Amino acid sequence: MGLAGLGLAGCGVRARGQALGVARGDGPADGLGEVARARGITFGTAVQGELLGQDPLYAAAVATEAQLLVPEWEAKWDALQPREGEFDLGPLGVVAEFARAQRKQLRGHALVWHQAMPDWLAPALAEGATRARGVLAAHIQAVLGATQPVIRDWDVVNEVLANPPGSRFTAQTPARGVFRDTPWLRALGPDYIDLALRLARERDPTLRLTINDYGLEGDTPWAEQKRQAMLALVRALLQARCPLDAVGLQAHLQVDEPFRPEPLAGFIQGLRGMGLAVLITELDCRESANLPPGLEARDAAVAAYVQQVVGTALAAGCRTVLTWGLSDRDSWLIRDPDVSRRDGQQHRGHPLDAAFRRKAMWQALARSFAGG
Ligand code: G3I
Repeated sequence: MGLAGLGLAGCGVRARGQALGVARGDGPADGLGEVARARGITFGTAVQGELLGQDPLYAAAVATEAQLLVPEWEAKWDALQPREGEFDLGPLGVVAEFARAQRKQLRGHALVWHQAMPDWLAPALAEGATRARGVLAAHIQAVLGATQPVIRDWDVVNEVLANPPGSRFTAQTPARGVFRDTPWLRALGPDYIDLALRLARERDPTLRLTINDYGLEGDTPWAEQKRQAMLALVRALLQARCPLDAVGLQAHLQVDEPFRPEPLAGFIQGLRGMGLAVLITELDCRESANLPPGLEARDAAVAAYVQQVVGTALAAGCRTVLTWGLSDRDSWLIRDPDVSRRDGQQHRGHPLDAAFRRKAMWQALARSFAGG
């Protein structure tokens, strides 16, 4: 495949040399990225390339608030290799060009996942292990080769663990033991995780390789089971000398999920004790109908919950915090019926409101970064 690397020049978003304006709203001119950087923390957010190119308010908020960007969908298999052997780096190139022009870091998400699979992929995997290994190797080789100049950090495998049954907070998932039953698991067994990590390391020895998952933060029996499963998986991979550098906690929080610092802190310290970095990769916070009405009360509840979790993670050694979008307006929490509110209200789970004004969650993150 003749990938000449990210063709940034042809991506339709001209590099904007001038700094974009500061996002609207009160508070210091410095964004969360600057507040975080002052304490050795990297703050960033998921972005959509089309919004970066079409919406100046969105682009300005990203430029002001984030140090690191992660493509919300443009680096996934369905965007990058929609047909076998045909790669499309256009949408990712739009994000990469913005990151270059605004001097932001860029991380990749996600090389192997059971969602965002193009139509041809699952049937190919079902043909057997040899075919599956070939497809996986070709994708990783091509994508890491093309993105090597601009992405130094990838979620290599995403959501490989099943959700423990019975949880009130995460949906039931098909499972084979502790693993999520996916086309990858059915084709290759759990070894697909080790294989993907080894292929990534072989292709680019200096990349940071991350396993990313959700439902790991709460003080519930189910979250604890999933934390123990992640610790066991990581321990087994490292004992097998499988390359792995970090674990990503997606942190799609839910304001009514019980939380105590100790279980999360112990989990992060356990991962850190194995030599791994720990990142918060997709932070946002769903509300519940139990919250008192009124935006101020809802925002305060979300902010307090987020500050507890982020503060705990930072105190335990986490040094990267990424939200899954900056503004309530563009959130999957509103688009996705599986998580959106059913009472006619819309989640307010992001640092900025729908008009890109800073909310209580913005202040809570700033306090967390400042050590508050
Ligand atoms: O593919 C089209 C593209 O051609 C079109 O130009 C563009 C216009 O906006 O939209 C693209 O469509 C959708 C895209 O979101 C943008 O909205 C995709 O069809 C849709 O599948 C994609 O959904 C994303 C989803 O992952 C699947 O990739 C969501 O935005 C994204 O928020 C969600 O993120 C996941 C993480 O990767 C993993 N953790 C959970 C999180 C939420 O589900």
